[in-house]
Amino acid sequence: NVKTIVTENIEIARALLLKGKLVAVPTETVYGLAGDGTNEVAIQKIFDAKQRPNANPLILHFSSQEAIQNYITEFPEALSSLCAVFWPGPLTVLLPKSNLVSPLITAGHDRVALRVPSHPLLQALLKGLPFPLAAPSANRYGSISPTTSQHVLHELGGKIECILEGGSCTYGLESTIIGEENSQVVVYRLGGITLEELTLHLGYIPPIKNKEATNIASGMVKHHYAPETPLSFYNPETPFDAKAAYIFYKDVPQKLISSSFLILSEQGDLKEAARKLYSTLHALDSQGYTQLYIEKFPDLDLGSTINDRLERATAK
Ligand code: TXA
Ligand code: MG
Repeated sequence: NVKTIVTENIEIARALLLKGKLVAVPTETVYGLAGDGTNEVAIQKIFDAKQRPNANPLILHFSSQEAIQNYITEFPEALSSLCAVFWPGPLTVLLPKSNLVSPLITAGHDRVALRVPSHPLLQALLKGLPFPLAAPSANRYGSISPTTSQHVLHELGGKIECILEGGSCTYGLESTIIGEENSQVVVYRLGGITLEELTLHLGYIPPIKNKEATNIASGMVKHHYAPETPLSFYNPETPFDAKAAYIFYKDVPQKLISSSFLILSEQGDLKEAARKLYSTLHALDSQGYTQLYIEKFPDLDLGSTINDRLERATAK
């Protein structure tokens, strides 16, 4: 076991990363577990710390769109114009990898996942490094992504040397993953950039391929993003359970007014609800409830992303 320090100092983080060590870093989506994306020893440490199977590829994080050039062999126009609009931000793109990218990063696949995050502290860190950062979400494999340094400490404390303190993540949900198939943009994971936003820029609704058994993205695994306490969708017919906690979007049903319940956004703001979702699940998970119930969200904008995560988290 190592002592895990939590610091706002990017020089400490930079020095560790240059030595091939891991640092948990804040992003606008969720905290990531970062290491030198060009160093196979560092990359393998990421899989080990998370207990993540090597078959699940990692995202490379860069400071700018220009910085990705040497790591890819092609950048189709449709994808580069979406990146120009949404980077820096919660969009990840799959592109044909150059031989600078280790097969450990891509789990042997031809395409590499790349992202330019917007969090100012991570931007500053990336600008001072001579390599991109490989970073999956900083949680143990299968559990909920961390949106605060406290969550990371709870998940990986004692396993990594440093957590860069960057406050609460503003999106609170992972990035959207896109790529191209037969000259058409395809969405592999719903995330912080919504289907509606992509549609507006593309002029067509990109197909969502996040359920295919052939797909390798771990975010597509059915049971994923789950708290330890059993989680189910709330359904008005379910008998009242005094040992359960209930989570609602903006209103609590009258009959549950005296139960343990939480509302994610009184105003009905999906961005606010998304930002609070994982931290609410993290908090309720440690409070001794035997069951958590959560209401299904309206199926639009970030509500679709939230429902995607909830479907996986409630899957048996
Ligand atoms: O918002 C995010 O994307 C966060 C922050 C830290 O950037 N990262 C994140 O990473 O969510 P991770 O590893 O937890 O999820 C990345 C997903 C996984 O489902 C992985 O399988 C998929 O991206 N992925 C990565 N590289 C891929 C590739 N070459 N082909 C297909 N899927 C890939
Ligand atoms: Mg993850």
